[in-house]
Amino acid sequence: MITPDLSDTTCDQTASAEQRAREEELLQRVVDSFAGTADLRVKQLLEALVRHLHAFVREVRLSEDEWKQGIDFLTAVGHITDERRQEFILLSDTLGVSMQTIAINNEAYADATEATVFGPFFVDGAPEIELGGDIAAGAAGQPCWVEGTVRDTSGRPVPGARIDVWEADEDGFYDVQYSDTRTAGRGHMFSDQDGNYRFWAITPTPYPIPHDGPVGRMLTAAGRSPMRASHLHFMVSAPNLRTLVTHIFVRGDELLDRDSVFGVKESLIKDFIEQQPGTPTPDGRDLGNRPWSRTRFDIVLAPAAEAEPSHINPVSASNG
Ligand code: BEZ
Ligand code: FE
Repeated sequence: MITPDLSDTTCDQTASAEQRAREEELLQRVVDSFAGTADLRVKQLLEALVRHLHAFVREVRLSEDEWKQGIDFLTAVGHITDERRQEFILLSDTLGVSMQTIAINNEAYADATEATVFGPFFVDGAPEIELGGDIAAGAAGQPCWVEGTVRDTSGRPVPGARIDVWEADEDGFYDVQYSDTRTAGRGHMFSDQDGNYRFWAITPTPYPIPHDGPVGRMLTAAGRSPMRASHLHFMVSAPNLRTLVTHIFVRGDELLDRDSVFGVKESLIKDFIEQQPGTPTPDGRDLGNRPWSRTRFDIVLAPAAEAEPSHINPVSASNG
């Protein structure tokens, strides 16, 4: 195991040699306290955590008042967290830690589609829709035709891939945020024999992450916006292939370069082509005089590294 020497690079170089020795001696004693940890992975995690935390404290020369403010902040994050709201994951998302974890665990593989943050609004057991069906189910917004294929990295179509999709309505709310128990803006389908899929959704629009708690206060203090770039979530799974958790984003959206959770990747930005009222729809659906849009998302799944225990990515699985 490689252990970076953080003591020399991150402590205040103006501290006297004697002071630095005192700080390093304390760090070493704490690291040594984990020497007997039976699980070697737990030992590695604890030792590295301590080294990095001490490096942070030493680098910024943390005052005792700042230490207290940090404790108060984390306490507030804990207090607002319950089974419906996971402020710690929101904190991880807004600090880019979720995306970094996703990057580490979803290494680029050939031309496999890139993953991004899961978000808090997935619901297991969303209704199945026919290919070409409408996930909107009454969610307000402009109709949007979405189509594409699911292939593996050899270019072979993947029939029967499960495709879960979910999105906010045009007012920026997911159905789980409605005051009633309606299901809208979500569903799942299976790719056909040729790996093709298609469905009606609504054109994605921007919305803020929950920002009425400590994470929102942190964003305000940093002059950062809570807004997420417009997106449509996908989770795609098939036997022996790596489950893909991702979204597609709308080309031209002005929030693409300042998504509050750092979820945007260039390869996931798609054209959502506006269609004038009266433009014939791909499936003959009559939209009256409403405008609509269409997009294409061709999905490539990497091989599964090993048998995956679950189709749900644990990172950011229930925040909000
Ligand atoms: C979302 O995609 O809805 C989301 C992702 C991360 C944090 C909050 C919301
Ligand atoms: Fe979302």
